[in-house]
Amino acid sequence: MELRGKLITFEGTEGAGKSTLIKLLARKIKKTGVKVSVTREPGGTPLAEKIRKLILKEPLSPLAELFCYEASRAEHMQTLIFPKLKEGHLVICDRFTDSTLAYQSEARGLDWGLVKKLNQMATSQKKPDLTVWLDIDPQKGLQRASDWNRFEKEGLLFQKKVRKGFLKSMKENPKRWLHIKVKEQTPEQLCEIVLKRLKGSSV
Ligand code: TYD
Repeated sequence: MELRGKLITFEGTEGAGKSTLIKLLARKIKKTGVKVSVTREPGGTPLAEKIRKLILKEPLSPLAELFCYEASRAEHMQTLIFPKLKEGHLVICDRFTDSTLAYQSEARGLDWGLVKKLNQMATSQKKPDLTVWLDIDPQKGLQRASDWNRFEKEGLLFQKKVRKGFLKSMKENPKRWLHIKVKEQTPEQLCEIVLKRLKGSSV
């Protein structure tokens, strides 16, 4: 697929190895001459990073938490993602709307349709061109996660619910997803799987 102007998101429960893979992938794609912007949610712009700090530090009620994620996302879309896509960059985002469905709806219990609606508002209906799901066994992921934030501290049952949320979202639109079961693969091997999909026409 043509990578310029495309949005790729990475999703997964904790400890799946998203950030290492994203770095490696970005480095490889940059070498081919494509401009790549790597960003993350919550965060990605100065204001969205401030909201990120607040969310990850303070315990919030579920609905307030949802609005914070969506506020951070709306800001991120308007000031970073849309402009970069327009400039022809490949934008790679560490977590996106599917995390909100998985965490705030499936795991926290907010209404799926409501979260979807707010996701659509915050993104002006923009959907990722590809979503890579690093699907690790939640127990292994928690063992691997190093810097525990308050979501990781919620424990195994919570992570299992999050995983169920990703599965549900993928089932709604399987073509958008690349589902990778993370076992013992090296980051290099994972990177090859993603590159192969990107080279194929199925995106
Ligand atoms: P982070 O430390 O970036 O976690 P990770 O390294 O696993 O990506 O913290 C982001 C946390 O925010 C993570 O636990 C998932 C959570 N999150 C939501 O609950 N909803 C969302 O919409 C997003 C984007 C993240």
